[in-house]
Amino acid sequence: MNHFIPRTAALLLLTASIGLAGSAQADELEIAQKMATNHCSVCHTFDRGGPPGQGPNLFGLIGRKAASESNFTYSDGYRKAMDGKVWDEKMLDAWLTDAQTVAPGSAMVYSQDDPAKRQKIITYIKSLH
Ligand code: HEC
Repeated sequence: MNHFIPRTAALLLLTASIGLAGSAQADELEIAQKMATNHCSVCHTFDRGGPPGQGPNLFGLIGRKAASESNFTYSDGYRKAMDGKVWDEKMLDAWLTDAQTVAPGSAMVYSQDDPAKRQKIITYIKSLH
């Protein structure tokens, strides 16, 4: 009878830690969302089918062809530099490090030196599917 107790305790611990991991992830996404909203939403919307602002809507960006939002007029510089490219995490990280290096002459001027901040913004954009 005695050795059932530790087993139950272990199961309870396991359940507790799964619960914690879940909420830690939710917190992380919430922080990521705040970061992206603060840095990008002056010019971009993130919701599915959201209207363009000064920049194109960013829903479903990862895996999307660059310069492919039909309701947004991209700059010539951007369209030339990004021709044939598809957004992935690596390109987004480079873009956020310095947009003008990735697409010289782009209408978006942004550079974020802090890799942790870039990662948060990428985490949020990745979640938009
Ligand atoms: C001051 C306005 C402004 C801010 C702030 C801004 N952007 Fe942009 N963004 C633009 C404009 C304008 C374009 C279109 C570039 C062009 O046509 O040259 C653009 C384009 C983009 C694109 C290319 C999308 C596509 O369809 O190819 C991505 C990705 C992007 N922005 C991400 C971001 C992220 C992430 C942030 C926040 C960290 C951000 N932008 C902040 C104005 C902005």
